[in-house]
Amino acid sequence: MATLTFPQEGRVVEDPQEISRFLAGVGIWYGKFAGTDSLPEDAGDQEILDAYQGPIQQLMREGGYVTADVINVKSTTPGVEAMLARFNKEHWHDEDEVRFIVDGRGLFHIHPTEGPTFSLEVVKGDMIRVPRGTHHWFDLCADKTIRAIRLFQDKSGWTPHYTESGEDTKFQPLCFGPSYIPFQRTL
Ligand SMILES: [Fe+2]
Repeated sequence: MATLTFPQEGRVVEDPQEISRFLAGVGIWYGKFAGTDSLPEDAGDQEILDAYQGPIQQLMREGGYVTADVINVKSTTPGVEAMLARFNKEHWHDEDEVRFIVDGRGLFHIHPTEGPTFSLEVVKGDMIRVPRGTHHWFDLCADKTIRAIRLFQDKSGWTPHYTESGEDTKFQPLCFGPSYIPFQRTL
């Protein structure tokens, strides 16, 4: 289940309908999709794309996306830290960021133009679309595992533009799932 957190208020929202309502208010599509349990763990990328043709085609029609691929990251993936470092600083894209989470989990921080910065922990079965231009950053959780379908209008729009605002330095990348490690202040 996804978790919406307002770190500055210490507020956590877990009700999916309340999460969807709030996110819709700031222009983010969020929803659940079904059917992930039937896939074998060693499913290949094409097998995953085939299994989700229904929701992929629907989103492509609604958002004008033309290509889809699968990203597969594990703690053992070569270069995982360098890959993460590209996206864990506040940035925006010329392209929507659309993800279906097929396995694992990750943490988006969103910095809307109005209202406080919040985080959304996405898990298997979640779909999220962060519109182009939205200031955000992304972390993996402690297990550093995520497998997700990505949709694109134009892959060249995927390059991150960094805001250099420092907003990302004000927040801990805390996940609440099985890998949750409470932040401990050492005095
Ligand atoms: Fe991004």
